Amino acid sequence: MQLSIIQFTPIFGDIDKNIEQLTKLIEKVDEANLIVLPELASTGYKFKDRDEAMTLSERANDSRFLSFLSGVASRKSCYIVAGFNEREGEKLYNSSALIGSGGIVGVYRKLHLFWDEKKIFEPGNLGLPIFDTEIGKIGMLICFDWMFPEAWRTLALKGASVIAHPSNLVLPYCQSVTPSYSLINRIFIATANRLGTEQELTFTGNSIITNPIGEVIAHGSTDKTEIITAIFNPLLALNKKITPENDAFTDRRADVYGDLRV
Ligand code: ACM
Repeated sequence: MQLSIIQFTPIFGDIDKNIEQLTKLIEKVDEANLIVLPELASTGYKFKDRDEAMTLSERANDSRFLSFLSGVASRKSCYIVAGFNEREGEKLYNSSALIGSGGIVGVYRKLHLFWDEKKIFEPGNLGLPIFDTEIGKIGMLICFDWMFPEAWRTLALKGASVIAHPSNLVLPYCQSVTPSYSLINRIFIATANRLGTEQELTFTGNSIITNPIGEVIAHGSTDKTEIITAIFNPLLALNKKITPENDAFTDRRADVYGDLRV
């Protein structure tokens, strides 16, 4: 399968302009089975306060942004994962949607909120879903979720072959640990990061795609709008063996680890 990340700079607060710029960028992606966009790709990241975020939010089932992406997915016969600012009732979630040619396949709501996000969004309440597609089982995590190995492990144990990871990274650590998460879970990961600066935050680009042996198989620059593409066989993620005698899943000693709650 072909996976392509679109690394770009969302224009803060302007969903229509972001649709316009993504229209042009997506036309440059040939033949992808899965396209992954950054976190909050519809609106940008650094809301002044919750009221501003509310004004810029959309409900998943009447979102201009997601219906634009559904049109693209249908025309290109592909899947798209994109971060968006989701409203449900009076609550806001930092969410990502998996979209296929028939529209929204599923939504994930970020579990681990970063910094001031805690003043704006509710922590995710949809758990860690995976979605069975003809290109394999797909899970989603969003940006700071990277810090929590349990989240990657849970999706992998549920059978995810690919984890799409829309991001707005500002700390320099994620790209050094993602290859290890790929290796220890024997899965593919696509970290789609954004560029640009909003208020005091500068986003670091360097989007990466990693494989089940912990290799970075495609990566972006720190400062250029670009399409980052890798072609791979997602079935490789079904093999959890690391030697003929060792299996990343069945060798686990869950009986000893116990309940990790603190
Ligand atoms: C982040 O979670 N956007 C750093």
